[in-house]
Amino acid sequence: MRVVTKISELRDEIQTFRSTHSDAKVGLVPTMGFLHEGHASLIRRSVTECGLTVVSIFVNPLQFGPGEDFERYPRDAERDTALAEAAGANLVFMPAVAEMYPRPLATRVLVSGVTDRLCGASRPGHFDGVGTVVSKLFHIAMPDRAYFGMKDAQQVAVITTMVQDLDMPVEIVPCETVREPDGLALSSRNVYLNEEERVQALALSRTLSRVKGWLDDGLSAQETAERMRQQINDVPLAELDYAEILTFPELTVPEGQLTSGTRWIAALAVRFGRTRLIDNRIFSGDEVSAHV
Ligand code: PAJ
Repeated sequence: MRVVTKISELRDEIQTFRSTHSDAKVGLVPTMGFLHEGHASLIRRSVTECGLTVVSIFVNPLQFGPGEDFERYPRDAERDTALAEAAGANLVFMPAVAEMYPRPLATRVLVSGVTDRLCGASRPGHFDGVGTVVSKLFHIAMPDRAYFGMKDAQQVAVITTMVQDLDMPVEIVPCETVREPDGLALSSRNVYLNEEERVQALALSRTLSRVKGWLDDGLSAQETAERMRQQINDVPLAELDYAEILTFPELTVPEGQLTSGTRWIAALAVRFGRTRLIDNRIFSGDEVSAHV
């Protein structure tokens, strides 16, 4: 596995690979580092589907708002390269901020509609930063496929919309959320949690695991979202940011019941002290009605 820090080096490496493996696919796994098993699952999926797997590790300042955790976001380059290599990556791209943004950007990629709610509403500008950096990474690496985790389901909706709208020649591959044995979704931010917060953070996955039952019982999207809010508000250290049920992947307010052929997302963002955690589950009308 090679580690490169310059855009030109990454392009040369990929170009060399392509010139000698004309049929092979190039897979890109964009990350902000402090890699865990969730990232590793994306890398392994790319390795099984692509001849060359590139992992980018870049804590993107553009997607952090004022007062968010850009400065203290956990970083560990040595551990990350070891984990990426163990998962089978061929190339790691680890640029400095000055390499990605040598001067103030005059150009941004803004995706509207799917960014109206959830994290798009509670973190203004966040998805402009995500869309812009992912678009840059796509132009730099020109991958055939790019792998994203459903843990960040709204991010998947944003990137898919961007790729469709701008005809970017890349296939977006959504990958399942990897969880701790007790249900907590893996996240680089979990290291911020103290012991007590870590225990209470289970409220997210526990609440989401009850949603299906409420929908099966015939509760509306609004009533179900209200139940979710009550569950989180009952947890002493939890401060609710949002709990919503929306259509997926459009992320609009659903009307009526979940019917065959449609999908809803139950999504949560909850703060524990200074740590903000998100989690979600997707429900299809076919699954729910099968259990009525
Ligand atoms: P980051 O939070 O490092 O996540 C990188 C990728 O790993 C994302 O696609 C994310 O959804 C996925 N991921 C995180 N936790 C996961 C889990 N528990 N199970 C499965 N996949 C998981 O998301 C970002 O970085 C950035 O916004 C980025 C796309 C790199 C742009 O800067």
